[in-house]
Amino acid sequence: MYRLIFLILTSLLINGNLSAQNPDADNKCADCHKDLISSKFVHPSKQNCEDCHKSNGNEHPKDGVVGFSLTQKMPDLCYSCHDNVIKEKVLHQPVTDGQCLACHDAHQSNHKKLLLNDEKTLCLKCHDKAIKYGDIKIINIKALLKEGNYVHGAIDSGCAVCHSPHTSDNTFRFKKHFPGGESYLHATKDSFALCFSCHDSKLFEDAFSKTATNFRIGDENLHYLHVNREKSRNCNRCHNVHGSKNPFHINETVRFGNWDMPINYKMTKNGGSCFPGCHVRRSYDRFGTPLRDTLNDYPLKYDIGTNKTNPINEFNKRLAEFNKLKFKDIKFEFGTSNIVKGTDKNLINIVNFMKKYPDCKVEIQGYTDNLGEESININLSEERAKRVKQLLVNKGIAHYRIYTIGYGKTNPIAPNDTEKNRAKNRRVEIKLVR
Ligand code: HEC
Ligand code: HEC
Ligand code: HEC
Ligand code: HEC
Ligand code: HEC
Ligand code: HEC
Ligand code: HEC
Ligand code: HEC
Repeated sequence: MYRLIFLILTSLLINGNLSAQNPDADNKCADCHKDLISSKFVHPSKQNCEDCHKSNGNEHPKDGVVGFSLTQKMPDLCYSCHDNVIKEKVLHQPVTDGQCLACHDAHQSNHKKLLLNDEKTLCLKCHDKAIKYGDIKIINIKALLKEGNYVHGAIDSGCAVCHSPHTSDNTFRFKKHFPGGESYLHATKDSFALCFSCHDSKLFEDAFSKTATNFRIGDENLHYLHVNREKSRNCNRCHNVHGSKNPFHINETVRFGNWDMPINYKMTKNGGSCFPGCHVRRSYDRFGTPLRDTLNDYPLKYDIGTNKTNPINEFNKRLAEFNKLKFKDIKFEFGTSNIVKGTDKNLINIVNFMKKYPDCKVEIQGYTDNLGEESININLSEERAKRVKQLLVNKGIAHYRIYTIGYGKTNPIAPNDTEKNRAKNRRVEIKLVR
């Protein structure tokens, strides 16, 4: 009670103070235009509206009379204080055109850097379609990020982690180096500085390793094989760094001369396979026999087994803990991805585990019973896996930590002879993969 009176008194005092002394007295404009400087972030030169606006000498405000004009025309106005924006040469078109206000608000914003929207939404305002610019055709970025696609985790923090929004000397205005063009000879780690600012460059440096990458046959690093030798291929030959329908952002097609050749990537249990037009279906299996005996041009530059901390043991420890979690397979009603009530109640154990190990990833494997057509079953099993993925995402686990795969009727855990047994096979299993 006393507290309440105290609060009322102090607030009266403060308000009284305000009208008596008015700290904004110098800024008469703010008396009426407070709404322009009330958001979370305000342009630092707000105190001085006259930095940017000059009076036309008319009475203000007055209906139908324009009281002010800008002190300079756009974008000179912005450049008068921000000349550093244009230092380098490759300008982004809206910047060339002086459309600072296509992205920024001159006064205030609830988004950082006075952006009109969150960064991703902002960039996709224009990049929601293919853009033709002179001879260049720029692909539709939004289409790559659509629902159902695997979107690069980097984009969760926006687009400007990789691209400078104004200018840069690098191709595609990358903030760090990344090779343009299709192939690249004699690549070094610095050639891909953009990627290795977030990813461990071991994935491309360690010729033999069971931990540096999952793109390997046995201990033979296929990233090394494809990227780190004389005729190295650019990351973008295999990955679409924005997003794609395939896991690991594997491209759907690869450009070969003038031909967009389909890659037909398939994720398998211990690896994957591709079937491009130019060679037969090739696959990699992390438990398979390394290629090096059959490839005589493959230089044995690196020692096997130089890992000091042995991350494989670390993973095995983690796996043992995961396998001990109280968790039963989630079951589904016949022919649908509706979860049988109650069978998902232990999912919270997976959620807690994934929160405990923030770098771990799981694969959700969907299965069906043996009734129905093969292709329908594959889709249905995938849908079941995705349904469970959504439950994990709803609990705050990032989408990119969860892979889904549909195995159809394969790997039954019970003979498909009775309805009771078939019900056992309509399930998803969750496996730890990292
Ligand atoms: C007594 C209240 C009041 C004060 C003080 C005031 N404005 Fe305004 N202003 C208005 C109103 C009302 C409008 C018209 C409605 C609108 O566009 O929001 C307006 C419109 C404007 C506009 C857009 C149209 C035009 O006339 O150019 C600008 C720019 C502007 N004000 C700048 C200023 C600046 C700068 C100051 C301080 C030097 C200032 N105003 C002080 C009330 C005020
Ligand atoms: C950094 C430069 C800058 C400063 C500082 C600035 N403005 Fe503006 N203001 C602009 C620009 C640019 C426009 C948009 C003009 C256009 O769209 O053609 C604008 C537009 C306006 C408008 C028109 C309506 C609207 O909401 O866009 C008003 C009103 C206004 N300013 C008032 C103010 C007041 C009051 C202040 C001081 C609190 C202020 N401005 C400070 C640059 C500035
Ligand atoms: C009178 C000088 C002045 C003018 C004119 C001016 N700015 Fe600024 N602006 C500043 C200052 C000072 C800062 C704070 C220091 C910095 O980041 O450079 C700033 C910061 C910014 C920021 C970064 C805000 C943040 O949260 O880090 C953006 C974005 C910006 N201005 C955009 C603009 C745009 C767009 C225009 C033209 C409409 C403009 N500025 C015109 C002085 C100015
Ligand atoms: C295509 C959208 C876009 C356009 C157009 C644009 N900006 Fe920016 N601007 C951004 C983004 C995004 C950031 C955040 C910076 C980052 O993360 O690299 C930014 C940051 C800034 C900053 C803060 C710099 C810093 O390092 O913190 C200033 C100042 C700025 N912009 C001024 C301008 C001016 C002046 C113009 C017009 C010549 C302009 N911008 C045009 C998107 C844009
Ligand atoms: C106002 C529309 C507009 C917005 C907003 C916009 N862009 Fe662009 N962008 C374009 C146009 C037009 C081109 C083609 C001309 C060019 O290359 O500058 C382009 C080209 C690009 C390119 C290709 C550059 C090259 O070298 O080929 C990249 C990368 C890019 N934008 C990134 C971004 C990012 C990141 C954002 C958000 C910060 C963004 N854009 C926001 C209009 C926009
Ligand atoms: C992890 C880094 C990264 C992030 C984050 C990223 N990009 Fe890119 N972007 C690239 C790379 C690499 C290329 C070159 C594409 C290639 O070589 O196939 C590229 C190319 C582009 C191009 C040119 C495409 C063309 O066809 O010429 C545009 C436009 C673009 N990005 C926009 C965006 C937008 C918008 C976002 C945010 C939604 C974004 N990028 C986020 C790395 C990134
Ligand atoms: C700003 C940080 C950042 C940059 C730069 C970046 N990435 Fe990523 N990348 C991530 C995050 C975050 C993830 C999702 C977490 C993870 O899988 O480790 C990811 C995931 C990936 C994946 C999928 C991994 C998986 O297990 O599904 C590939 C492939 C990938 N990135 C390739 C690239 C390539 C190629 C580049 C360079 C063009 C690049 N990244 C640059 C942050 C980044
Ligand atoms: C020849 C095709 C190919 C090229 C070229 C390629 N990758 Fe990969 N990458 C893959 C495949 C396939 C996977 C999925 C491995 C799996 O089954 O988990 C992968 C996985 C990844 C991952 C996830 C972590 C891992 O290593 O398993 C990252 C990050 C990654 N690649 C980054 C890159 C970067 C950066 C480059 C360029 C320096 C690159 N990739 C070049 C095919 C390629």
